[in-house]
Amino acid sequence: MNKNICFIDGLEGILKYREVDINELVELPYDAVSYLLIRGELPGEQELAEYSARLHAERGINREVMDVIRMCNLNVDAMEALRTVVSFISQFDPDLNDSSQEGNMRKAIRLIAMVPTIVAAYYRTANGKEPVPPDPSLSHGANFLYMLKGSKPDPLEAEVMEKDFILSAEHELNASTFSSRVTASTLSDLYSAVVSGLCTLKGPLHGGARSEVMNMLEAIACPENAEKFVLEKIEKREKIMGFGHRVYKTYDPRGTIFKQLSRKLAEAKGDMHWYETAETIENAVVCELVEKRGKPIYPNVDFYSGVIYKYMDIPPQLATSIFAIGRISGWIAHCFEQYEKKKIIRPRAFMLDEC
Ligand code: ACO
Repeated sequence: MNKNICFIDGLEGILKYREVDINELVELPYDAVSYLLIRGELPGEQELAEYSARLHAERGINREVMDVIRMCNLNVDAMEALRTVVSFISQFDPDLNDSSQEGNMRKAIRLIAMVPTIVAAYYRTANGKEPVPPDPSLSHGANFLYMLKGSKPDPLEAEVMEKDFILSAEHELNASTFSSRVTASTLSDLYSAVVSGLCTLKGPLHGGARSEVMNMLEAIACPENAEKFVLEKIEKREKIMGFGHRVYKTYDPRGTIFKQLSRKLAEAKGDMHWYETAETIENAVVCELVEKRGKPIYPNVDFYSGVIYKYMDIPPQLATSIFAIGRISGWIAHCFEQYEKKKIIRPRAFMLDEC
């Protein structure tokens, strides 16, 4: 496994997982991208069929997990429950204490398979509905929407969900991946490393920005209000959620694809409202920041993904946990790389001055 897990060129706006460009990756099934990340190579037809069959067979959650979900506060962000439940399920994993490569691979497959089921079960329970068991015949994206809504999803929505998971799957040493790697570097187990990732992803400067974008769209309500909202925010030196990135100094390539997908959804639904509101926000942010700072700040991965969720009737409370469903394969790929190093990550405090 010697290909770099991720390559980012922040000046040119290039992103690759294991040397495959993001524009090619979005045309694959999520299962193939997940396999690529954690095994290092794209799967052949037979390998993909076997990997998918294993993933799809591990999607179910047991009664104890449902009991814990029911005990969660169902009125808050789904990340609160997801973090607790992922921590809880480790106890039932027959490979919990098997830290061999094979044992870790079996845990990885269970985690990737079960996290969407947990999020969907939480959502349905919170809305007074019975959870919908997973359908092993459906792709990762289609199955998630099926478990969420209780009916077979529209093909375009299923395609968009699949691509959302792929675009969210990996991004080098971002804050949550770093957290996961630090935990793995102590040779702690995979569940603990994933819980670390979840805890870090939920912050609004990271994955939590996605739900903030949705709340912002709701508050702005229509394209006519967008410019005033943006100018006031910038005047008060407040951040506009879904914009800016530590690494990209140009348009985030994931943002470009999310923008295209949100337009496609808007057109298919014959409702340009949220797309136009978002585009007006984007234009206002870019123009105003060029004016004020001499250089623009562009939408990041969280901006147009928030627009997509508006069109798919996904509430803000689920936005970060959906990000986690995609990102878990990236966290695990990094944990596997870290386990091989058998070396603890222990930076010195002065290094934080550079952050
Ligand atoms: N809105 C307005 N101004 C911004 C924004 C924004 N979203 N982002 C950066 N700026 C400005 C800052 O005010 C600062 O201006 P100054 O130089 O005049 O003080 C300058 O740009 C640099 O900003 P920093 O916060 O120092 O940039 P940094 O690289 O540290 O932060 C970050 C990157 C955290 C993503 C930042 O852009 C931000 O807070 N964005 C909003 C939250 C967000 O969308 N997070 C998701 C990021 S993608 C992800 O994690 C999945």
